[in-house]
Amino acid sequence: MKKSIEEHAARFDDLAAEYDEEKSLEYNECARLVVDHADPGPDDVVLDVGCGTGAIALALAPDAGRVVGRDVSEGMMAQAREKAEERGLENVEFGRGTFREPNVGGETDVSIVTSNYAMHHLADEEKREAIDVLAGLEPEKIVLGDVMFFGEPNPEVEFYDPDVDDPATVGVLADAFTDAGYALTAVEMVHEQAGVLVAERAL
Ligand SMILES: C[S@@+](CC[C@H](N)C(=O)[O-])C[C@H]1O[C@@H](n2cnc3c(N)ncnc32)[C@H](O)[C@@H]1O
Repeated sequence: MKKSIEEHAARFDDLAAEYDEEKSLEYNECARLVVDHADPGPDDVVLDVGCGTGAIALALAPDAGRVVGRDVSEGMMAQAREKAEERGLENVEFGRGTFREPNVGGETDVSIVTSNYAMHHLADEEKREAIDVLAGLEPEKIVLGDVMFFGEPNPEVEFYDPDVDDPATVGVLADAFTDAGYALTAVEMVHEQAGVLVAERAL
């Protein structure tokens, strides 16, 4: 991780009020694909990690049984809570949690995990640990949208900031899911540096 969790939290606290304003085509397409692939029903409990201002969690809540959003930035989650209230969504909650300590509580039976544009803040070894932790919750499906490299990394293309972001290759992510007992059932390349992976429990 190129910045500590506290530094990321402070950075996103500062960005929170304007975060929703301008989004790239690729971000919007990844978010749409994450929502489409997650496809929860009324019996599903969804955990959205790095939920930010709630783009994914709030889009899934009308169809899901319950949605749990976790993030390290209180400022981002304050925006998410405000939107949930405006939309009258009562089955979604936001609270502090990290990839490696999602803080869902032992009694919560998570069936779908989502994450969009957040895991690239972790170093590759930390991503592996995070995928192991998420797999340990035994969801049927994990849907990951993010900056990820389908080819050679190219920091000249403005997809990530090498000072704060640390995206992985698709191969590293695919290996981590496979090693954690999940099979990739969809790979969506949105751009050669962004996409969505769907991993389903293999056993
Ligand atoms: C670019 S935003 C994406 C937010 C949202 N998922 C979306 O699609 O708009 C990244 C979010 O990840 C959060 N984040 C960064 N590191 C994290 C970590 N280790 N655990 C949980 N959340 C983290 C940040 O606070 C921020 O809200």
